[in-house]
Amino acid sequence: MPTKIQSITAQKIFNIRGEETIEIEVKTKNGFGRASAPSGASRGKGEVVPYPEGGVDQAMKRVKELVEPQLIGIDAQGQEKIDLMLHQIDGTQDFRKIGGNTSYAVSLATADAAASSMGRPLFTQLGGQLTSELPHPLGNVIGGGKHARGKAPDIQEFLVLPVKVNTFLDAAKANILIHQRVGAYLLKKDKTFTGGRGDEGAWAPNLKNEDALEIATKACEEVSDETGIKCKVGLDMAASSLWDPKKKCYIYPRDEVDRDSGEQLEFVLNIIQKYKLVYVEDPFHEEDFESFAELTKKAKKCLICGDDLFVTNKERFAYGIEKGVGNAIIIKGNQVGTLTDAWETTILGQKAEYVPVMSHRSGETTEAHIAHLAVAFRCPIIKAGVIEGARIAIINELVRIEKMLGERAKMATVPL
Ligand code: PGA
Ligand code: ZN
Repeated sequence: MPTKIQSITAQKIFNIRGEETIEIEVKTKNGFGRASAPSGASRGKGEVVPYPEGGVDQAMKRVKELVEPQLIGIDAQGQEKIDLMLHQIDGTQDFRKIGGNTSYAVSLATADAAASSMGRPLFTQLGGQLTSELPHPLGNVIGGGKHARGKAPDIQEFLVLPVKVNTFLDAAKANILIHQRVGAYLLKKDKTFTGGRGDEGAWAPNLKNEDALEIATKACEEVSDETGIKCKVGLDMAASSLWDPKKKCYIYPRDEVDRDSGEQLEFVLNIIQKYKLVYVEDPFHEEDFESFAELTKKAKKCLICGDDLFVTNKERFAYGIEKGVGNAIIIKGNQVGTLTDAWETTILGQKAEYVPVMSHRSGETTEAHIAHLAVAFRCPIIKAGVIEGARIAIINELVRIEKMLGERAKMATVPL
C-alpha cells in the first residue's frame, strides 16, 4: 500500500512571533507529508489545549511514545480513522495529554503525506477531483487590539473583502492595492507614522477606531472604482479582549469609552450601517450568545461571524445555530485539534446556511496548507491577511491552485 504510514516524527520550529511550535513529518511507503501548528494571541476559552504541561518538548515526547507506535502501519488516506485514533490516544476532552496543536499537526501532516503518496495536490486529496472553487480573500489592512502595541486602535482587525471579482489573482491584487493605499493615507494623516505593522502585516497606526474605519473605507472605495472590483470593509472586533467581566462592559482604552452590552450592540449596528460593513467577527464576548443573536436579526447584508464564540467546536456551534446566532463561522483547525473535527463543523455550517470562513492565526509558521483546506472544504471566504511573510505564503498558494485548476477555476459566491 503506497499510503501506509512508516514513520511520524516531531520537531520544534518557530512561528512568526518567535514562539516555539511543533512540526510533524509523516513518511509513507511512497510519500512524505509535513505540517506545523499555528498559535493564537486572542484565543477562545473553548479551544482545545495547545500543548501538554511541559510545552512543545513534552508534546514531542508524547508523539514518540504514544502517537507514532499507534499510527505506524495505518493507511494515511483514512483521515477519519486517524483523527479518531488521535482522540483515543489522547483520551481527554480537550487534547491536554498530547496537545491540540500536536494532534492538528499530525492530522494535517498525515493528509499531506496521503496526497503526496497519491501524487495529488492536498485540496483534491481532501476535497475530491471536482473541487474547483476558490475562496475570496479577507485580509486586514489596519490592526490593533492584541495584535499590536501602544496607541493602535482598540479593534483588532480592519478587514477588506473583494465581494465581486473574477479571479483569485485579481482579488489578491485588489487587497494589496487597498493595503498600500491605506498606508499612504496613514502617512498623510500622521507625519510621525513609522510604517509599523502588527503580527499579521496590517498597519498598526496611532489612530482612533472610527478614523481607522474612515481610512479603510476610503481606500476600499477608491480601489473599487479604479479596478472595477467591488471591495467592502469588515471588522474582527475580538470583543472578548475588550470585555471586562467585573465592570460588565467593553473597554475601549484608545477611544476612552466604555460600552455595556446594549451600547455595544448600538455601536456595532451603527458602524455596520455607516460604513456598509459586510463582515463583523466577534462583536461580543465569547459567552454572549444572546447579543450575537440580536445583532444577527437586526444587521442587514452583513456576515456576523463567530470565532472565539464557536471555536470551530461542533457542540458550541450547534447551540448557536439553534439560537440564531450569527450567519458565518471561523474555521481554525487547531481550535479543535483534527481535520475531521474542523470538517464536521464546516459541514454543519453549510447545512444551516452559515458561511464557513477558513482562517489563519496571528502566529503562523509560513506554511500554506490552509489554502488547500479552504478549497477542499468549499469555504467561500479565506481569512489570511494581505501581506507579511506568512500571509503571502498562503495567498501565493491560492494563486498556484487557481493556475493548477486552469479553465475549471472559478470564484466561489459570497452570499450577501
Ligand atoms: P488569533 O486571532 O490571534 O487567536 O489567531 C486571530 C483572530 O481573532 O481571528
Ligand atoms: Zn477572530
